[in-house]
Amino acid sequence: MARILMVASEAAPFVKTGGLADVLGSLPAALVTQGHQVAVLLPKYRQVALHGGRRIYHDLPVWLGSTPYAASVDELVTEGVSYLFLDCPALYDRDGVYSSGGKDYPDNHIRFAVLSRAALEVIRRIFRAQIVHCHDWQAALVAPYMRVSFGSDPTFAGIRTLFTIHNLGYQGVFAPSALSQIGFDRSMLTPSALEFWGDVNLMKGGLVFSDAIGTVSPTYAQEIQTPEFGFGLDGLLRSRAGVLNGILNGVDYGAWSPEVDRLLPANYSADSLEGKLACKRRLLEELGLPAENMDRPVLGIVSRFTAQKGFDLIAGTAAELLSEDVALAVLGSSASQDEAHFEQLFQDLKAAYPERVGLKIGYDNGLAHLIEAGADIFLMPSRYEPCGLNQLYSLRYGTPPVVRATGGLNDTIDEAVGFKFQGYSGPEFLAAVRGALEAFGDRDGWLELMRKGMARDYSWAASARLYGDLYRRLESFPRG
Ligand code: ADP
Ligand code: GLC
Repeated sequence: MARILMVASEAAPFVKTGGLADVLGSLPAALVTQGHQVAVLLPKYRQVALHGGRRIYHDLPVWLGSTPYAASVDELVTEGVSYLFLDCPALYDRDGVYSSGGKDYPDNHIRFAVLSRAALEVIRRIFRAQIVHCHDWQAALVAPYMRVSFGSDPTFAGIRTLFTIHNLGYQGVFAPSALSQIGFDRSMLTPSALEFWGDVNLMKGGLVFSDAIGTVSPTYAQEIQTPEFGFGLDGLLRSRAGVLNGILNGVDYGAWSPEVDRLLPANYSADSLEGKLACKRRLLEELGLPAENMDRPVLGIVSRFTAQKGFDLIAGTAAELLSEDVALAVLGSSASQDEAHFEQLFQDLKAAYPERVGLKIGYDNGLAHLIEAGADIFLMPSRYEPCGLNQLYSLRYGTPPVVRATGGLNDTIDEAVGFKFQGYSGPEFLAAVRGALEAFGDRDGWLELMRKGMARDYSWAASARLYGDLYRRLESFPRG
């Protein structure tokens, strides 16, 4: 059994902007169930409310080069997992997590370099990890600090590192001037280290210097080795293919099951589905849609509004989609000004079809659950999808998904439980939606489809075992 320190920028329920938080909120507890000891290091953002937490370390010395950052550590133990919060108000006590008013914070490289550098001090002083498991670019500098800045420090000599890519589309790329601010000299600005087309790429540091690399589905592990999905790092990923692993995310069914979900107006199960109708009714009410939509299939969308998620397909086909007898229930928001046009798209659709398009722009966990439960069909036409959790939730809530055959969507959805199309094109997407609508018309067949999806088991146990095996095998991998 291993002592594992995870490092990441979000974890549910403390702070969440996407599926990364769901993973960090549930994989650690699944590992504890299997006998591992797990701590998770996160920034203490303004929105993190620690009920029952306590300060366990004052004045942790965190230096980036010759610049000190004053930080302390708070701990909250839940389900046997020690969540450690790095308290550095100058960096984390702000309105947003990554951005404010649609603009990334200009010092994000420093904010997350401090998180990564602090992980080494946590290992030295608080939690003697054997394995450090880092997630996404915000935690990518842990391995470079360990292997380069502290390469000869015996404290870290026996520690193995795993870097998991949750989304290769976000790499943390900064101007070369960032290099000295994160505590490295020009020797790291080479193609074999952090350099990327003249800039500094933090995720690249994780990919180069970690002992092994993971991602969140087997299909995505293959896709990222191709130019189409590699975002410029496919060559590097091909060169490290021998230590690249794809392990599917699991679901926390304690939070995401219609039998127990406390955010719903009624609970239900595969054997007793009446509650799902009550959820549909409430969903229509919350979105201000007339009750006549009870007789139509409601198509649900819960998503970050970004090109990754297939919104240009939806934009291109919206008129044909709404020429069908359907209603839309949409929740999401754009994280950046560049993608604000997706918000406009849905606002325009709502204005054009006020009786059939329900929209909430923003982040709303309760409504996310209500859409999973109250919609009839869930849409995820992603251009790429490392794993995707919403399609797994939708299966459990009896809301068969329409997905594109990419990444984790490809690995988890088949025709027994949903609808899958191959090419990223409007006609193929529309054909899949029409297939779903036709199937919806056959009540008995539809009930069977729902029940098969509800019976699928994507709980964490199996994936946590795969992580346990990988942690054991890390010992035999060459040093990153
Ligand atoms: P990604 O991490 O790429 O955004 P996932 O499908 O892995 O996609 O996970 C998204 C998670 O974020 C799900 O738990 C989903 O319910 C949640 N989510 C996404 N958008 C919103 C929103 N606007 N309000 C509430 N929850 C959201
Ligand atoms: C990323 C991916 C998503 C994945 C999530 C958790 O945000 O976009 O597909 O499910 O991370 O791994």
